[in-house]
Amino acid sequence: MVHEVKEMERLQKVIAQAGITSRRKAEQLIIEGKVKVNGKVVRELGVKVTPNKDEIEVEGVPIDREEPVYYLLYKPSGVISSVSDDKGRTVVTDFLEIEQRVFPVGRLDYDTSGAILLTNDGEFANVLMHPKYKVEKVYVAKVKGIPSREKLKELQNGIKLEDGMTAPAKVKMMSLDKKKNTAIIRIVIHEGRNRQVRRMFEAIDHPVIKLKREQYSFLTLKGLNPGDARQLKPIEVKHLKELAVTKPS
Ligand code: URA
Repeated sequence: MVHEVKEMERLQKVIAQAGITSRRKAEQLIIEGKVKVNGKVVRELGVKVTPNKDEIEVEGVPIDREEPVYYLLYKPSGVISSVSDDKGRTVVTDFLEIEQRVFPVGRLDYDTSGAILLTNDGEFANVLMHPKYKVEKVYVAKVKGIPSREKLKELQNGIKLEDGMTAPAKVKMMSLDKKKNTAIIRIVIHEGRNRQVRRMFEAIDHPVIKLKREQYSFLTLKGLNPGDARQLKPIEVKHLKELAVTKPS
């Protein structure tokens, strides 16, 4: 494989991008003398390295840094958001025939379909998943029953779940089917708690029948069918990285 010539980058950034740890923890490891570059311990934070050329070891283990890649997958329902499954079920990485070892940024439930990012850039993933950056996620839920205005308002204002109050959400009724006694609701949240949307609707007694993530930040599923993935454009990667820089709480 031919690697393009890479510019030098800060050691802590390269370690973080390898997905081993956060940039801050990488700095700590450097200060503690646990990082070697080309066989020599480096304790200064200003050091720059050339990825894929300089040999970096963290606590005695060489880091294997690939060219960072970024994909948007339209995850079908019935797929695990992981890189492997001990029960042999389909996982999100099965949809990408690439040599890089990517992993999902966060997760969607087995039964949830929709937009999910896959990357081998650990730092990018850590940053996007950090609650303080409030990346918006747009979900469309088909729910049992037809929620009243008051109940939707509760979701909008924040609702008590067993792990605490949810942050305010944008909630909109899209359509309802009186005969089938179901409703389609669009909900925008920026938290990423486990099964959050399902638990929010359970809390107002309208359990989710079907759930799809239509949008992750500004990335939509436009042009994709379930199981399709596309590589992000460099400008999209740049914008996602900027979101993290410009939107701390
Ligand atoms: N909320 C859920 O309940 N499930 C998902 O998969 C994503 C958000």
